[in-house]
Amino acid sequence: MKLIRSGLLLGLGALLAACGGGGGDGSSLPPPAGGGGGGSGSLPPPASAPSLATTLAARYGVVDYPVGAAIEAGSLAGTDRTLLLKHFSSITAENAMKPDTVWPNAPGSSTQPAPQANFAPGDALVDFAFANGMEVRGHALLWHQTAPSWFFAGDQGNPVNYRALVQQRLRDYIFAVIQHWPNIYAWDVVNEVATDTANAANPYRTDSPWYIAYSVGGADGSQYVRDAFLFATQARASIGRNDSNMKLMLNDYNTELAGKRANVLRIVQDVMNAGTGADIDGVGHQFHLQLNADVAQVTAALVAVEGLGGNLVNHVTELDVSIYTDPGNCFSQRSIPPCMADYGASPPQSVLSDQARLYRALFNAFNRPSVTSVTTWGVADNHTWLNSFPVTRTNRPLLFDTAGDPKWAFWAVVDPNIAIP
Ligand code: GLA
Repeated sequence: MKLIRSGLLLGLGALLAACGGGGGDGSSLPPPAGGGGGGSGSLPPPASAPSLATTLAARYGVVDYPVGAAIEAGSLAGTDRTLLLKHFSSITAENAMKPDTVWPNAPGSSTQPAPQANFAPGDALVDFAFANGMEVRGHALLWHQTAPSWFFAGDQGNPVNYRALVQQRLRDYIFAVIQHWPNIYAWDVVNEVATDTANAANPYRTDSPWYIAYSVGGADGSQYVRDAFLFATQARASIGRNDSNMKLMLNDYNTELAGKRANVLRIVQDVMNAGTGADIDGVGHQFHLQLNADVAQVTAALVAVEGLGGNLVNHVTELDVSIYTDPGNCFSQRSIPPCMADYGASPPQSVLSDQARLYRALFNAFNRPSVTSVTTWGVADNHTWLNSFPVTRTNRPLLFDTAGDPKWAFWAVVDPNIAIP
């Protein structure tokens, strides 16, 4: 997996808010009248689990509401496949649609693109989804961590020509990919383009190779973001799609932290105000959270996007809840300590219960008309990037356990009355 990044401060918002842990379950429901596993500590039988997607579609009042999971090819078989078919109505390619997979460098070269695109890994996931009546979210047309170097090759001695060359490559790439997968309902046009510096004077990430390439000769490095949305808008029109059936999104992490969120919102407004015909339809909130996440700040992120106008939608794109409550310096030092010690294969019940309460509150928070898609970053705890980020350590961040059985987190989401032990 390509997932190493610096500066990710999971859950820092909760620390800043001095949250008392758990985030509250957001529920004032009475305790269950008996049964339902209330207080007994025993999970309901897996076979009695309702479909997650069907349950949420009913609760949110939207037919075919996309409830997604990020997947690799391995999820097309075995337990993951069974879970996908029962519980999910959408998929995201964890890696198969990223630029370094779709159009890598030519073998042995750092300046030439491969002669042909490599659509096959993404096709396999898309074919599976469509064959089974599921939708597909596109992730991601542009991300600094997966940008093959051929995009940026060329003579920088003539900055104007160089910039035009890079710009043309971006346009050609976006057209090729959007036209290859015409029937997906949303694209993360850009991923993680905002800086982590809270309330920054320049809201853009300046260490992106895209920003750096566009800056050659002293030009405005941030222009690549508006260009990406312009080219995506044009490519979408070229296949007869529009903002009603293919959303063009800006995706980022830590939007639940006010200072990062401010940067994201400014970039969205820059695209909205570009005046070039570039369309932007919403914000993808990754929501890689940990147990002390502040649900009020999650809601604030959704509300803030609504407040920008323009009929923007919110997508929850990469939801998971780490069972650890790491301090901020864990994500810069990436060692134990300051990261919390490994719980090992059997994390305490109290932790899984806190996770369940947080998941319940989150899915309640997502129940607003602007939130039109929710995706977890993985299917079940057998496969999660959080086993190696921010340190190598057992994590259990999803709704299904390593055997594919529903966890307390699952039951807390689908059954508002179930008592969590
Ligand atoms: C980011 C990216 C995802 C994925 C995760 C970690 O959130 O957007 O594509 O790589 O990191 O796996």
